[in-house]
Amino acid sequence: MDWPARIESYVRLTKFPRSLFIAEDGRVVGTWIMGNDYRVRSGYYGGYPAGYLRRVAALFPDRRKVLHVFSGAVDLGAMPGDTVDCNPSLSPTFVADAHDLSRVPLADYDLILADPPYSIEDAERYRTTMVKRNVVLRSLAAGAASGARVVWLDQVLPMYRKAEWDIEAVVGIVKSTNHRFRVMTIFRRRGLAERGFDNGADRE
Ligand SMILES: C[S@@+](CC[C@H](N)C(=O)[O-])C[C@H]1O[C@@H](n2cnc3c(N)ncnc32)[C@H](O)[C@@H]1O
Repeated sequence: MDWPARIESYVRLTKFPRSLFIAEDGRVVGTWIMGNDYRVRSGYYGGYPAGYLRRVAALFPDRRKVLHVFSGAVDLGAMPGDTVDCNPSLSPTFVADAHDLSRVPLADYDLILADPPYSIEDAERYRTTMVKRNVVLRSLAAGAASGARVVWLDQVLPMYRKAEWDIEAVVGIVKSTNHRFRVMTIFRRRGLAERGFDNGADRE
């Protein structure tokens, strides 16, 4: 399924206005304004705004198996899948620190959603230390299958290795007035052939 078809699926399934576009460099860009759909149903601190998962699901109607990393109290009704969190009291499928996902069968998943704490203050709310985003992306790259997508929600574009990931989409997320602006970055794991001539340098 190509990106024009994904955007069509998004418009058809969500009935939201067309807000994603293919830029001249081939990447998808756009903005989602969450409107009335911004509340967190679970009440969990930092939870996805209601409607976010429905939008992502509409972009990937062909998904086979989903993994939620930094899963918190994610709404599995909106996006069924397995879960990874460092907090065992949340009963995730895998209790793991996202900096080392070697014990999670990442190759089984074609769609991985990640929602880390965005700041030191946020991390303190979960009694964790701030995430090293580049280390998490490296850990994901070590196990993910070629072509797998990571949908990463954050306040920054995480540092990544261009030998490992292509950025397919960058979408601004506006929750509502006085809320932080976020960005959803969609990475695609590069295949071996695509990686052949790359130097593997980190990018900012
Ligand atoms: C922003 S919340 C995710 C909320 C989730 N999207 C939801 O809808 O409920 C971040 C989660 O990451 C977890 N977390 C923080 N640091 C982690 C780490 N190093 N490895 C795994 N999980 C971590 C926290 O326990 C918390 O549940």
